[in-house]
Amino acid sequence: MYQSYNPPARTLMGPGPSDVNPRILNALARPTIGHLDPEFIHLMNEIKLLLQFAFQTKNELTIPISAPGSAGMETCFVNLIEPGDKVIVCQNGVFGARMADNVRRLGGEAVIVEDEWGRAVDPQKLKDALKSHGDAKIVAFVHAETSTGARSDANALCEIAREHGCLSIVDCVTSLGGCEVDLDEWGADAAYSGTQKCLSAPPGISPVSFSRRATEVIQSRKTPVTSWFLDLNLVMGYWGEGRTRAYHHTAPINSLYGLHEALVILHEEGLQPCWQRHQTNHLALKAGLEEMGLSFVVPEEERLAQLNAVTVPDGVDEAVIRSQLLEQFNLEIGAGLGALAGRVWRIGLMGYASNRKNVLLCLSALEAVLSQYNAHIDKGVALGAAQEVFRAYAA
Ligand SMILES: Cc1ncc(COP(=O)(O)O)c(C=O)c1O
Repeated sequence: MYQSYNPPARTLMGPGPSDVNPRILNALARPTIGHLDPEFIHLMNEIKLLLQFAFQTKNELTIPISAPGSAGMETCFVNLIEPGDKVIVCQNGVFGARMADNVRRLGGEAVIVEDEWGRAVDPQKLKDALKSHGDAKIVAFVHAETSTGARSDANALCEIAREHGCLSIVDCVTSLGGCEVDLDEWGADAAYSGTQKCLSAPPGISPVSFSRRATEVIQSRKTPVTSWFLDLNLVMGYWGEGRTRAYHHTAPINSLYGLHEALVILHEEGLQPCWQRHQTNHLALKAGLEEMGLSFVVPEEERLAQLNAVTVPDGVDEAVIRSQLLEQFNLEIGAGLGALAGRVWRIGLMGYASNRKNVLLCLSALEAVLSQYNAHIDKGVALGAAQEVFRAYAA
């Protein structure tokens, strides 16, 4: 006989999903209403306002796409690119490579600006590429590379794009709610995110935002958008202004309750305090890990607070340690991806999961398991180093 499924109580400190705030779990369980119910339309309007707050933008076209972050990525590319368009794609990890794949599948030409995995995108390389490709239409880059933990200078990259007459597409999947995202200040033209990282809602929704300039490009396309579901000209019939909304698809109503609650929580905390909380917890984790003898992949000034990529000590099987953390401590951390597979762990401190308890749990669990496997680490010092950071920031 089949039975109801009850998942184990994990602590999610990988690259996402992160622990979901219980307030959001409660919101998800509220009764489903119709997707054209006037009450639901009121909720949709609030979600749009709260997304504008989170992205720091006045962009009218700021809505949640009913699918995960990858669909937000496709929404940006499929709506802005027409066959033959040249797109400069900055690639410093897994997700930049996916952007380039999107461009090629749409009949565009992807010009790759390559940076080392674990480093931010180099603005000078982008300038050089734009000098040699004056006919480029778009610059695309990942603000927070989840595969490496590197943060790129979105403000500088968007400015360079604008100076060369290009639109910018920015992947904010791991940055939104975890560090500064300011679309209007950056002058970004298109951005997408996800719910399962620093917003701490379940996966499955992708907030997107488009500037007026990008919206005009979409509205004046020569060819139809090749995806029916992601065609913003159609989606806006449902998410656009006014109380009369036309059916496009059945919105994931309860997931949108969850997103709304996540954004209300962010609004209550405030953007700056939220980013500061991520930074403090990162510094405490870093102090503990470094005291233990572990080192970070990304140079300090390019590091994300919400995604900590640390090098696996010599002679340690990283997969064994991860599975023991899960088995003994119900603690999930992430493996390395692509070029960093087998060489790093990715420790997330995202959204609701970015808290003191998780920092201390992770340090003590990692120390316990690494000791069981005779790794060469300094024992008994990590927690004290982390506590010192917490004390300094509480003062
Ligand atoms: C930077 C980045 N972009 C895009 C995605 C894709 O998002 P999703 O897995 O929700 O489709 C992810 C997911 O981890 C990501 O980290």
